[in-house]
Amino acid sequence: MPSSAPENNGPATLAVGGETIELAVDRPALGRTMLDVSSLGQHGLAVYDPGYADTAAYQSGITFVDGEAGRLYFRGYPVEQLATSHSFLEVAYLLMYGELPSPQQADDFVAKVRDPGLVLHVGIERLFDTFPQSMHPMAMLSIATEALNAYADDDASLSPVARVERAGIRLLSSVPVFAGYAHSVLRGVPRGRSNRSLDYVEDFLQLCFSVPGHEQLPDEATARALNTLLVLHADHELNCSTATLRMVASSGASFYASASAAINALWGPLHGGANQEVIRMLQEIKDSGKPLSAIVDKAKDKNDPFRLMGFGHRVYKTTDARARVIRQVALDLVEKLAPADPLLEIAMKLEEVALADDYFISRRLYPNVDFYSGIIYRAIGFPDAMFTPLFVLGRSAGWVAHCMEMATGPNRIGRPTQFYTGPTERTVPSRPGV
Ligand code: SDX
Repeated sequence: MPSSAPENNGPATLAVGGETIELAVDRPALGRTMLDVSSLGQHGLAVYDPGYADTAAYQSGITFVDGEAGRLYFRGYPVEQLATSHSFLEVAYLLMYGELPSPQQADDFVAKVRDPGLVLHVGIERLFDTFPQSMHPMAMLSIATEALNAYADDDASLSPVARVERAGIRLLSSVPVFAGYAHSVLRGVPRGRSNRSLDYVEDFLQLCFSVPGHEQLPDEATARALNTLLVLHADHELNCSTATLRMVASSGASFYASASAAINALWGPLHGGANQEVIRMLQEIKDSGKPLSAIVDKAKDKNDPFRLMGFGHRVYKTTDARARVIRQVALDLVEKLAPADPLLEIAMKLEEVALADDYFISRRLYPNVDFYSGIIYRAIGFPDAMFTPLFVLGRSAGWVAHCMEMATGPNRIGRPTQFYTGPTERTVPSRPGV
């Protein structure tokens, strides 16, 4: 883990238009030293940072990404250690409460999330009857999550944190059922039933792959692989969808409305939707028969909108911490479940060609979390439209943790300023007779 930023020697000074402005310099526990620019407005100044690449919008103690070293920490624990030693719900507990659970705390938390009393209201179940087979499952998840507002019993007497915690536990309980139902809509088969006597991952997989009257339990290797992937996806600082969650929550909107918005942000192909785009890209490469060098050249061509999906990252400047673990899971699982799948071999060769190319080396573009995850989901038997919903299953834990963290501290509604490029004031032309 990177050492904390070096001791600072007092404020930074900014010389603008003959004025010298002092800016407080803050040292976070880890990561880049922060200039506090919140006083610039008093001097008629603002900062312009497209995509917020170098802007910290919130203080948070949940997750730290060391992009230079390619490391990821959940409450200080390296994610690659958690991914093979703890269940997804134990890691959700860690993100929400800040410490790994004792065996008793883990049992109590699992009992809450897996409570048979949290099964879906029939009104939400009926929503899935209205979804056409052509609907993307991310839309189904977003709609069903929003619908929890109508059917979940809120309790205004609870503290803000306790209200988010209660709603968050219901979301953790509901999302795998939503995803299982969405998979049934895609397959055009009747919905299965959640079996709360199974663990979180086993129940989700049986919901997805059982047929009425025949509960199909997953094999242990598949369940373990999916648990690892859910842990790896559980949180990732203020990525696009988590920042969206916080922005919506900052207006006072409900947790479910904030989570529904986050699901829609995650859907984008530049974000969580990339895992589906990677498989589409690999399939097109396979079908085209083109040499991989031609694909890499196309990705480098500024006049071509094509990008190497699953490559590059705003923060990581080496291989994504998660991609290393996922790549090994893919090698192990595909060999067991789908040894004939050519896409894994194409992916590995594409990675080799790209990482030898100066364009990718000079821009420090490496495989990210989405490059190999779709290959695993495909080997398990999911259609590619289900890949991003699987990302939602993992990330829902981080979303609960971030909203609980927001509820503990002072809130200020998010409202960035802009770099205005439009017309200056002008007079509306007079109109005859008006
Ligand atoms: C996720 O933020 C998170 O934490 C996200 C995530 C999470 O856990 O929440 O990690 C999950 O979203 C992973 C990213 C999945 N998306 C993709 O795989 C889509 C392909 N990747 C790119 O679109 C891109 O790399 C982004 C969106 C991931 C990052 O974009 P940035 O930070 O805005 O970087 P950029 O577009 O400014 O790229 C810098 C340069 C540019 O070239 P130059 O203008 O310097 O010549 O790198 C090039 C880009 O054209 N580049 C790529 C590329 N990614 C960046 N060129 C070809 N292929 C790519 N994939």
